[in-house]
Amino acid sequence: MTAAHHHRPIVESAPPLQSLQALWRGEDDTAAFARRLAALPALANAYVTLHGDLGAGKTTLVRHLLRALGVQGRIKSPTYAVVEPHEAPGLAIWHFDFYRFDDPREWEDAGFRDIFASPGLKLAEWPEKAAALTPPADLAIHLEAIDEMQRHVTLKAFTPLGQALLQGLQA
Ligand SMILES: Nc1ncnc2c1ncn2[C@@H]1O[C@H](COP(=O)(O)OP(=O)(O)O)[C@@H](O)[C@H]1O
Ligand SMILES: [Mg+2]
Repeated sequence: MTAAHHHRPIVESAPPLQSLQALWRGEDDTAAFARRLAALPALANAYVTLHGDLGAGKTTLVRHLLRALGVQGRIKSPTYAVVEPHEAPGLAIWHFDFYRFDDPREWEDAGFRDIFASPGLKLAEWPEKAAALTPPADLAIHLEAIDEMQRHVTLKAFTPLGQALLQGLQA
């Protein structure tokens, strides 16, 4: 096998239309970002991917975002189910964690194709593991732990919808 086999699909390596960097000094900054993102109307039909090592803060950001969107009650993490559906007022949300996704048949069988064809917010951790099947992300959020509390953040827009989100965040 050559190195080429390990390259990511071409859609993922396409350059972003626009990007933005930030530093979160602690989880309060992560929560504040989640509230600003949740306030943007364009988020309602977005596909947002979350990138970063274990412990980078992907699930933490999703939880703050779900709360900011008005999801109530216990927030389950999808690790074993691959996807966890949530309901916010007037908004369907699906939180994927593709970490254990390895059978492409599951894409059809579990109805993931239908979910991506439906209106609503789709959030995905470990999107690389399903990159051949998912649409390109509107917004990709890359998290990198600098130390216990601080996170270096890179936001990349790959679609006009993602650009609208970045512009909303900068406004
Ligand atoms: N600024 C921050 N943003 C997000 N998480 C943070 C931050 N600072 C510390 N943390 C902690 O880092 C951990 C991140 O874990 P988690 O969200 O499960 O990561 P991942 O889903 O990327 O594996 C949590 O224990 C969280 O409390
Ligand atoms: Mg996680």
